[in-house]
Amino acid sequence: MNLIEQIKEIARKNKKRIVLPEGYEERTLKAADKVIQEGLAEIFLIGSPESMLKQAYAMSLKNIGKATLINPKTHEKREEYARMMVELRKSKGLTYDEAMNLLDNPLYFATVMIKYGDADGEVAGADNATGDVLRPAFQYVKTLPGISVVSGAFLMFLKDKNYEEDGLMVFADCAVHPDPTDKELAEIAVATANTTRAIARIEPRIAMLSFSTKGSACHEMVDKVVRATQFAKEMSPGIKIDGELQADAAIVASVGLKKAPGSEIAGKANVLIFPNLECGNISYKLVQRLAHAEAIGPVLQGMAAPINDLSRGCSVDDIVDLIAITANQAIGPVRK
Ligand code: ACO
Repeated sequence: MNLIEQIKEIARKNKKRIVLPEGYEERTLKAADKVIQEGLAEIFLIGSPESMLKQAYAMSLKNIGKATLINPKTHEKREEYARMMVELRKSKGLTYDEAMNLLDNPLYFATVMIKYGDADGEVAGADNATGDVLRPAFQYVKTLPGISVVSGAFLMFLKDKNYEEDGLMVFADCAVHPDPTDKELAEIAVATANTTRAIARIEPRIAMLSFSTKGSACHEMVDKVVRATQFAKEMSPGIKIDGELQADAAIVASVGLKKAPGSEIAGKANVLIFPNLECGNISYKLVQRLAHAEAIGPVLQGMAAPINDLSRGCSVDDIVDLIAITANQAIGPVRK
């Protein structure tokens, strides 16, 4: 069974409640139909129930009637939700009327449902920009205790199986935090190690990437990566990590041996941590396009509940896969 099939199997056995705020969106409806058909999750769709059912009928989707269809403007818990929002954002001066207005926005409604305990995870972004999906999540679901920064990892399935691990690598942060500090970069590395174990199901060997290998260049950007590597070791003793490494030293054995002799990571890294979002986002897209790799994600890490953001160019299958991954994150490490 391949990795995605294993992830789906776990989701099927431990059905979680996944909310899809873009219920009006065609690919989302098709994905919801497929997820229900395959029994991967309990689906909550936000939108106008009448239009969602009409659209589903027009597209010959048979299962949308089995989802919970939620009209955020008339939902029975609006007032309770609004009161909770005011409480959570009182330091920011949020008023009850403002909270009620925010609840008209399905992206806010979905995150508030999760915070209230009425859903386990969310997938959105087929029709909304990353920032619009993430902002409500940052404000209401927030980060896990001890984590200050959310980041996004991609599972990269390479055609060339000679690269670790049978062609599977994990890249981060490729999606969220534009310019991490040294401590934030360390957090991203530790969070990615957890995602690698939990979702990619391989033991992480992390390379902290730079344009320098072991002091070959001197620059404050290199120093940041060196400090981040040290912080990550302090945050997670026993973590297998090395840096700063150039990309070739990280993944090519002969180069790793030459540039970083004695490193237990150089030449065999399966997790690549990029120094900032520019590097991470550009790199994953280049590998995806030029090397024809399959990129699954971003899997958002560090959030107190799983909320994942789709690319607006996503396919129906991308949405189904991300729903299964989100369900796995909600299930947590104790899974059968
Ligand atoms: N982790 C946790 N919390 C965060 C993070 C983060 N990385 N970034 C912001 N926050 C919190 C802030 O602390 C703040 O909380 P508060 O309101 O309780 O004080 C809240 O989120 C809003 O913060 P802002 O700084 O106002 O957030 P802003 O909306 O300006 O930026 C955002 C956040 C949208 C994620 C921004 O960092 C961004 O645009 N990142 C790039 C996303 C992107 O476009 N990625 C590329 C496309 S994805 C792809 O290609 C797959």
